[in-house]
Amino acid sequence: MTQTPGQTAHNLADYRPYPFVLTATRMTFDLQPKATRVRTALSLAPREAGMDLVLDGGKEVELLSLTIDGKAPDPAHVLRRDETLTIAAAALPPHPFLLETDVRIDPSANTAFEGLYISNGMFCTQCEAEGFRHITFYPDRPDVMATFHVTLDSDLPVLLSNGNPVGQSQGRAEWHDPWPKPAYLFALVAGDLVAVSDSFTTRSGRRVALNVWVRPGDQDRAGFAMESLIKSMKWDEDVYGREYDLDVFNIVAVDDFNMGAMENKGLNIFNSKLVLASPETATDTDYERIEAVIAHEYFHNWTGNRITCRDWFQLCLKEGLTVFRDQQFTSDMRSAAVKRIEDVQALRSRQFREDQGPLAHPPRPDQYEEINNFYTATVYEKGAEVIGMLKRLVGDDGYRRALDLYFDRHDGDAATIEDWLKVFEDATGRDLAQFKRWYTDAGTPRLTMAEDWQEAEAGGTLTLAFTQETPPTPGQPEKLPRVIPIAVGLIGPNGDELAPTQVLEMTGASQSFTFDRLGARPVVSALRGFSAPVMLSRQLDDATRAFLLAHDTDPFARWEAGRELALSALTAASQGKAAGGDYVDAIGRLIADGTADPAFRALCLNLPGEEEIATRLSSGGITPDPDAIHAAREALARQIAETHLDLLSDLYDAMAVDGPYRPDASDAARRSLRNAVLALLTRIDGGERAEILFGIAGNMTERMAALTALLRRGRGQAELAALRDQFADNRLVMDKWFAVQPMAAPPAQAAQVARSLSQRKDFDWKNPNRFRALIGGLSANHAGFHAADGSGYDFTADWLLRMDPVNPQIAARMSTAFETWTRYDAGRRAKALAALERIAAAEGLSKNTREMVSRMIA
Ligand code: PHE
Ligand code: ZN
Repeated sequence: MTQTPGQTAHNLADYRPYPFVLTATRMTFDLQPKATRVRTALSLAPREAGMDLVLDGGKEVELLSLTIDGKAPDPAHVLRRDETLTIAAAALPPHPFLLETDVRIDPSANTAFEGLYISNGMFCTQCEAEGFRHITFYPDRPDVMATFHVTLDSDLPVLLSNGNPVGQSQGRAEWHDPWPKPAYLFALVAGDLVAVSDSFTTRSGRRVALNVWVRPGDQDRAGFAMESLIKSMKWDEDVYGREYDLDVFNIVAVDDFNMGAMENKGLNIFNSKLVLASPETATDTDYERIEAVIAHEYFHNWTGNRITCRDWFQLCLKEGLTVFRDQQFTSDMRSAAVKRIEDVQALRSRQFREDQGPLAHPPRPDQYEEINNFYTATVYEKGAEVIGMLKRLVGDDGYRRALDLYFDRHDGDAATIEDWLKVFEDATGRDLAQFKRWYTDAGTPRLTMAEDWQEAEAGGTLTLAFTQETPPTPGQPEKLPRVIPIAVGLIGPNGDELAPTQVLEMTGASQSFTFDRLGARPVVSALRGFSAPVMLSRQLDDATRAFLLAHDTDPFARWEAGRELALSALTAASQGKAAGGDYVDAIGRLIADGTADPAFRALCLNLPGEEEIATRLSSGGITPDPDAIHAAREALARQIAETHLDLLSDLYDAMAVDGPYRPDASDAARRSLRNAVLALLTRIDGGERAEILFGIAGNMTERMAALTALLRRGRGQAELAALRDQFADNRLVMDKWFAVQPMAAPPAQAAQVARSLSQRKDFDWKNPNRFRALIGGLSANHAGFHAADGSGYDFTADWLLRMDPVNPQIAARMSTAFETWTRYDAGRRAKALAALERIAAAEGLSKNTREMVSRMIA
């Protein structure tokens, strides 16, 4: 990636170890909202002679005093620049020394929520990736690891930091973290909090105290998070042999948080939406997310904390692996088939989209300006897919041996992708030089498969000929072939499986595989389990797809066959061609099949999203027309509903769940099928069922489904008002209320709906969740955001400009709404470009947003 080598670009190739060794960090915080004092003592030793000591430290960190071994250095040897503090080599002893600083910061002024800030009267920190430098002067880089001893002085009742508690008295708490860690894993929390508590006994018999800390009044919504934590701890012992390593594990929920959650050592801090859940306020999807993210952050204790990253280019070392682990966990807790399909859907809608546009980058980028812009679907989700491929190539045993070796060899290290691949090579004897391209190259490979069938007396021969090609991405015009594991099965004409799944290893640009002695020509089930993150194209008629949807034994491939049928109908219709019949028939047979898992049937019944259709068209070189796509999808949904009306209404009644709400996979599956059916029926019944369901449902899953279905039909105003009256004081429910309106609005009105909501007093836009709800709600409405009059672009640009000076991370992240702008027609492109240029022209634009916008208009 060399497209925007601005002055502040960081390059992987420039890595140098830090010239000092830091062994121990001691800190004392005097927590005051407007003027917090931070005293820090660093035990440092020079690695080599004659080096200046450069510490990171944001502009707003005010240096009050500095000493070396107790003495103030000559001021001529101390240089303060905007972002650093340098102590000249001449002022440093040639042996280990103690550097002490005293600084003042103002948490109350911190609206960017990076470093130490205040949320609802509670002090908390966010240090990944480079937030610690806003707290004090420090070598703020992940390969500098130290033990931490932290003293917190405050009148607030609950005072938390990393590690184990070592002293607690009135107005003071002391914490010691014995595990050396980089500054990005530091955290503190001080507030008026209450805990839901439990404990976990590790397999070697150590008892760990567990707490989920929330604001008073929220305790009854924290139980599910605690259950999820206990399951995660057990699972990591059972599956990866990894035990927890401190006496306590604390989780804190905060309302103002830029991301989902953060794995600080022993003190995970969570966006409250990923902790708090009750049936009345959270949906099944929220419950599943909470379980997965609690697990994700917990799993980081080994993959991220015990073994961290050498530098931020290696981010996917911890994130890809930890996502892979949380996906495995969810598959074990719920349905593996459903989880795989959900993950593929998410990958396609977010990562393939990213790969297709100007923001495409490899899982391990080699250049960035602002690291916060690289917490992406490519680093996380594609990073996880790459590990899935590795596991497929080396087998379950090989994977287990490699992981054991990884933990053995690198415990306590700040490691690299090279280290990671080396453990696989050493544990399995495989050469992974070519495989490494998955980490260094951007873009989604296009894989094509052609079949050739030759009859012969001894049995027929089937040849599968594959070719691969990866389109150009920024800075990478040409790419070499990758190793692609292609899982294939063969199905006989009667629907029986002829050959079980085998993994073909493709390494060349084109390559063939033959199967001989076949009795009759089989149907090929290809890319089973989505064995590689590629776009597969093959000539297949709709009848064969329908056959696979009926007979494939691989649940992903079976779902995929239905997906392809739907997409072929939708892409044809959105280009004005007639289509749809095969899909409508096949889906009718599937929903009538009472033996199929309801969750699976729901996944098949949910039509591909408009964004996905646009991505599909565009990857085939066709300019997507958002209005035509919307119309085609609506028409197909209506056709399904009309054709299968009786079947659907029976199913709606049959899938009702009795008894008290339970968030488990089997009840959630029935609700998801029922809600998918409801969305279809609402197109016919004028909203009757949805209105009834909204009125009687005690749980948010059904109420949101009913409300969404109504809003999509231009109804639902009474339901919106009811929800607001009931939940005006519940931030998380009100976020849903703000999000669903622009998302489900008829496209022509979406921007106007969003604009009028943005004028409400309760649009507390400095809260990241609220901002994301409204601005992200509009961009989730494909035809609404891309309205031909540019209203979606203008509204979004207005708010990005307003947010940027307040919270640059959020502005930059939400700017990705524009990342696909180049694929639309000239009229839309001109309007999107004008919006992007207006952002680019803003005075004082943050480095975060500047990098994003300039990559998008490059
Ligand atoms: N490391 C966090 C996670 O993936 C994400 C995060 C990044 C949170 C940066 C805050 C800031 O679990
Ligand atoms: Zn993570």
